[in-house]
Amino acid sequence: MSFPTSRPSRLRLGVNIDHVATVRNARGGTAPDPIRAAREAVAAGADGITAHLREDRRHIRDADMETLARILTVPLNFEMAATDEMIEMAIRLKPHAACLVPEKRAERTTEGGLDIIGGHDALQPRIARLSEAGIRVSLFVEPDEAVMEAARRLGAPVVELHTGSYCEAVAEGDATRTAHELDRIAQAATYGAGLGLEVHAGHGLALDSVGPVAALPEIAELNIGHALIGEAIFVGLPQAIRDMRAAMDAARA
Ligand code: PXP
Repeated sequence: MSFPTSRPSRLRLGVNIDHVATVRNARGGTAPDPIRAAREAVAAGADGITAHLREDRRHIRDADMETLARILTVPLNFEMAATDEMIEMAIRLKPHAACLVPEKRAERTTEGGLDIIGGHDALQPRIARLSEAGIRVSLFVEPDEAVMEAARRLGAPVVELHTGSYCEAVAEGDATRTAHELDRIAQAATYGAGLGLEVHAGHGLALDSVGPVAALPEIAELNIGHALIGEAIFVGLPQAIRDMRAAMDAARA
């Protein structure tokens, strides 16, 4: 299936549903159902659904990804480590996009971007295989100009800039570091877009941090999960998504 990838200047919101599966798995049953969350997210205005099938299957499971690939009416962004197992699965399921992320078993969440400079030779054939299968490859990377160049050399059409350090600085109330981290994201976004890359961003974004990133005109998509699922406990998932959408639109306006 092909989807329109851009309405000029409208920032897309990809909703990451991993942590619905985290809660489900805490009890080993079937509720809450991440597929129901995906449907509700789309009804509430999500432009796409993101899910990360980790090597240890700690949240999303194979059957979740298979169902998402089958039923979604919006683009599925399949987050994965660049392993042979995941590449084969993506080629079988044909999601709209595959976002390649680093993965370490012990980490609580994805820490740091993918090393696409040192990992160039290993990544290139994998990116080529996904691209040949018609899957848009996105590389989850640190906001850095040399890294943008490396993404371009690898032939990936999309980069997703890691916003984790910026969000940590916001959470710590450290204005100097916040400004520095935001500047890194802004510079990488401008540079990457200038190289012809489509620029996305994500990780750790919440209502109190999303605005300045959403305001960057080169950024086409934000992928947000944990903060939305956390807010959903208090206001419900549709309202959490509408609130995030409103914050993004206000910043972009
Ligand atoms: N983008 C990527 C590539 C990620 O790995 C994650 C975390 O799974 C996210 C976005 C979403 O991060 P968060 O859940 O902190 O919003």
